Amino acid sequence: MEIVVSGIRPTGNLHLGNYYGALVNFIKMQEENKCFFFIADWHSLTTHPDPDRLPINVKNVLSEYLACGLDPEKATVYIQSDVPEIAELYLLLNMHAYLGELEKTVSFKEKARQNPNNVNAGLLTYPVLMATDILIHHADYVPVGKDQEQHLEMTRNYAARFNYKYGVEYFKQPTAYNFGKELIKIPGLDGSGKMGKSEGNCIYLTDSPKDIENKVKKALTDNGPEGINTPKPDYIENLFTILKVVSTPEVVAYYDNLWNTGETKWYGKLKKQLAEDIIRTTSPIRERIDSIKNDDAYLQQVTKEGAAKARETAGKTLREVREMMGLSFHSAR
Ligand code: TYM
Repeated sequence: MEIVVSGIRPTGNLHLGNYYGALVNFIKMQEENKCFFFIADWHSLTTHPDPDRLPINVKNVLSEYLACGLDPEKATVYIQSDVPEIAELYLLLNMHAYLGELEKTVSFKEKARQNPNNVNAGLLTYPVLMATDILIHHADYVPVGKDQEQHLEMTRNYAARFNYKYGVEYFKQPTAYNFGKELIKIPGLDGSGKMGKSEGNCIYLTDSPKDIENKVKKALTDNGPEGINTPKPDYIENLFTILKVVSTPEVVAYYDNLWNTGETKWYGKLKKQLAEDIIRTTSPIRERIDSIKNDDAYLQQVTKEGAAKARETAGKTLREVREMMGLSFHSAR
């Protein structure tokens, strides 16, 4: 059985980017693999979240995981900070992570630019913690969105470097996974790059149908195509990218055809369709979130059992790595 690991930071509610970039694949992959899906609360600390708010966000993401169909009977579902072995392996792997490569990481440079007053060491070594999450369970596959690709590349480097240094074939080479297809990037509706919490352009799984209609209505458009078979500008391509994940191929082909014939005045109809199809996907999830969120005993039980299972494999890896690195005084003769 292949091993799958992935996580999401508890920085707010989950949005369509998280859902189509990651969660949809978590749910498919739990059927046939040994899966570990967690809430990356340590990773969220880089931006100093309000300590009163953080547990609420953990609970939200956990409820949203379960409402989307993650099944604790099939996958190990846990909170990262419930597995202290991850922190120790992170310390050990940090000894093999070099300043130059960490400073060059795109996500680090972006965050440092956005927040020049908070360029902390945790932010710098963020990819090492992520590599630890993955390597500690010996993952084969990591279902993530396009923005995480470089972190996966770094994870493979750390694995190879460790193996070389200690002369072992110990860590595997995990790959970012989307069922053989390109990794996904869900764009925002404001014409700007990706949908993201810090971009403030998200459609959340918890949004009401009215909110979704309003957000889609406000999406950036123009006066329509300027001729037959012209290329779409980015902000129109973005609408089609979302349409492709929420609608049927026939619907996409219908609007593609309208664009290609150069017709105008159909954006209103496209937006109505887009909103309807998003609502069709998110409404049943939104309804389940509320009832799950109110079941504290269940949420506590899921995370307690998940942590116990995750600690078994994590503990084994940590013991083996300690030994390989020479932290073996008590077992040495
Ligand atoms: P995070 O919390 O930023 O995002 C969680 C997941 O959602 C995907 N995602 C998107 N996919 C497509 N389009 C978008 N607009 C979009 N926005 C977010 C992300 O690619 C990700 O899969 N570092 C990770 C969390 C993490 C992790 C790990 C992931 C920590 N340890 C180990 C995998 C394995 C992060 O910040 O994701």
